[in-house]
Amino acid sequence: MNYNKKTVKDIDVKGKKVLLRCDFNVPQAKDGSGTITDDKRIRAALPTIQYLLDQGAAVIACSHLGKPEPDFDKWVKKQTEKGKDPASLTKEKWEKSLEALCMEPVAKRLSELLGKPVTLAGDINVVNDDVQAKAAALKPGEIMLLQNTRFNKGETKNNPEFAKKLADLADVYVSDAFGAVHRAHASTAGVADYLPAVSGFLIQKELDFIGGALANPKRPLVAILGGSKVSSKIGVINNLLEIADTIIIGGGMAYTFSAAQGGKVGDSLLEEDWKDYANDMVKKAADKGVKLLLPVDTVCADAFAPDAKSQVVKAGEIPDGWQGLDIGPETVKLYCDAVADAGTVIWNGPMGVFEFDKFAVGTKAVAEALSKTSAITIIGGGDSAAAVQQLGYADKMTHISTGGGASLEFMEGKELPGVACLLDA
Ligand code: 3PG
Repeated sequence: MNYNKKTVKDIDVKGKKVLLRCDFNVPQAKDGSGTITDDKRIRAALPTIQYLLDQGAAVIACSHLGKPEPDFDKWVKKQTEKGKDPASLTKEKWEKSLEALCMEPVAKRLSELLGKPVTLAGDINVVNDDVQAKAAALKPGEIMLLQNTRFNKGETKNNPEFAKKLADLADVYVSDAFGAVHRAHASTAGVADYLPAVSGFLIQKELDFIGGALANPKRPLVAILGGSKVSSKIGVINNLLEIADTIIIGGGMAYTFSAAQGGKVGDSLLEEDWKDYANDMVKKAADKGVKLLLPVDTVCADAFAPDAKSQVVKAGEIPDGWQGLDIGPETVKLYCDAVADAGTVIWNGPMGVFEFDKFAVGTKAVAEALSKTSAITIIGGGDSAAAVQQLGYADKMTHISTGGGASLEFMEGKELPGVACLLDA
């Protein structure tokens, strides 16, 4: 994939209407108050928004929020599949589910952060007469926000009619929604068929760091892969086996590797069907001369609980009734040493159940090692970013990705539709 894309700096936006796709998919409090519990994604879009406004563009921002189901019948089907009583699934409840994903809280927070009004417009169709009128009347230096793009049934289907309706609001399309570039949706990709399309600063930064680390890394390149399942990381392991010098495996998926080598894993997470695959990966790494590090010891617990009884055992010697919840002290040392000499480190997935203090030691030690190394340190979005933030090392990393699924697919070497649709530099 070509990561060299035109940016907002390559075009003249003065006096233009700019359709700006952001990833404002932010977490909200579960109490229904609409309180945004983490506004990082809104803040991450500010440099591009401010630049466009300063350049004299009128900005029509848009984003999805959550996964609303805009079709009542499909909503009923999905809820029924989740075990809800069909008789309780009223139109009123469906409307409430959509209301909970309205963009009002985002518009409010964005307005506070920018220190200027952000007009919110749109309904279930996203683009309607009112939106068209407001967009047409928007002046240079002003900003409006559209309603949740996924309220329109055409969004996730990448419907050309909806894409054209969005495009007709503006002269230029700017995407800064890195977290959504792996989605081929109307507002993330389809719209680029109708407007000149360039990237904002956030996408540019993600492409520079992650793309740079994959295409031309400062070596040695060490990839740390954790998380619970081998099956969800196959693509990344496969791609990184072609690129990395060292691959470190931690987290729940390490037990599948251990079991595949004949180890005893007790009640640990195990993907039986992926054992052969794990062995293939070990062989492939050896054939390619990639150092593949697996845990040599494990902190195991008698229950999946924050206050469970724990003990350190050798990898592959987890007693029956116990489960591995963190890497052990010898493994911590091995992994931290590997990171110390790295030129670039890519980290995706925690080493253990870091949500429980007692089993956050391995993840914390690796985060600390990354904070001390002189290597370029790149943290994939999602759980790894959350771990680094929760453990207090966020400002010590070179780059923390704002994309969960997007950064994973990027590291898998897949083409990202929301990037591919932008004009080449
Ligand atoms: C994310 O949260 O990773 C992005 O906003 C994409 O959201 P999605 O998984 O609902 O497409």
